[in-house]
Amino acid sequence: MNTTLRKNIDWVGYVDWTIRDFHSYETARGATYNSYLVRDEKTALIDTVKAPFADRLLRNVSALTDLSDIDYVVCNHAEPDHAGGLPRVMKALPGATLVCNKKCVAALSRHFDTAHFDTSAWRIRVVTSGDTLPLGQRTLQFIDTPMVHWPESMFTFIPEEKLLFSMDAFGQHYATSGRFDDEVPLCTLMEEAKAYYATIVTPYGKQVAGVLEQAATLDIEMIAPAHGVIWRSQIAKIVEAYKDWSVCRPKAKVLVIYDTMWDSTGQMARAIHQGASLAGVEAVLIHIRRSNLTTIATEVLDSATVAFGSATLNRGMMPMAGAVLTYLKGLRPVGKAGFAFGSYGWGKGGPEAVGDCLENMGWQVLREPLKAQYRPMPKVRDECREAGKALAQKALEMAPNREDRQRSV
Ligand code: FEO
Repeated sequence: MNTTLRKNIDWVGYVDWTIRDFHSYETARGATYNSYLVRDEKTALIDTVKAPFADRLLRNVSALTDLSDIDYVVCNHAEPDHAGGLPRVMKALPGATLVCNKKCVAALSRHFDTAHFDTSAWRIRVVTSGDTLPLGQRTLQFIDTPMVHWPESMFTFIPEEKLLFSMDAFGQHYATSGRFDDEVPLCTLMEEAKAYYATIVTPYGKQVAGVLEQAATLDIEMIAPAHGVIWRSQIAKIVEAYKDWSVCRPKAKVLVIYDTMWDSTGQMARAIHQGASLAGVEAVLIHIRRSNLTTIATEVLDSATVAFGSATLNRGMMPMAGAVLTYLKGLRPVGKAGFAFGSYGWGKGGPEAVGDCLENMGWQVLREPLKAQYRPMPKVRDECREAGKALAQKALEMAPNREDRQRSV
């Protein structure tokens, strides 16, 4: 495995091939926790890894240099998938000073049990945006990037190498033996980058837009995130994709999501999907209990319009429909239009509850909930097909340019 980014700058992280649940993110292709070693007159370790893998990180570092040679440990982000290994690492690196911003110091002090880890014993150098730390031939330059992904998040840049350590931004949950974007299939890489954005970064679109503006002022040849592969051949592609994702830019795409009891809502969903399958429109059909939150959030990200269906259960929506809507409410994908649909029996409530959720998310609700009592009779199925067609036409309006309609990322 090629782990060298530049001369004396190496990846020393951990590839987790087996993880499938990253706090409800379904990591179908595993994950990586990236850490980088910069050796110069001074030596710096950029980020650590999840706590259980700290010893693997230390072994990787030991293969390149003596642990006593490490001068700095930069913490770009306090979340435990990157900082969880810090107590073990700081204990093993007697000469190291922790480098992070003020908010990160506060976050770390609330993560670690000082009675056991004695963070007060750590030497800490507090930096802020624009500060630099000379290593010798190379310099570390720090850029605060609040809320991408947490308040204390920051980037570290090495201008002499045109190398940006971007922490969570531009990451992917993707276990591979290749460490670089040109060593893995591009379509798979972009799929994982999109899933990562949709699931982790969507709520922070405005902050991402700010970060992209800042990044545009830097001369960058390589982006080394804290997860997944390193960007060196496809930087323009991922930056363009982030510009689209940060505003949830819609494709001409209709998404039909549903949960059903006795397939009445399923029949309605299929009729809506059939009506939405117009030329030039991508129409996607998802049965919630045959899918997962990660896939659904990823499909929502670039959809223009969404039909969301639930059968009525106990005067409300189906439980997994509720879980999906709760998840989407938190992710806050913007600029979507759609409607609710579903079946009911003697008591109503499922489609109405879905419609309320769509409205509360700030989506444009295009019509009253489309409903069927017990079974969708032919007239209702016709109505579903017409509603699907209207959704597709709306999607075409929302992505009017040929380029917008065909964006494939
Ligand atoms: Fe990969 Fe926000 O942690």
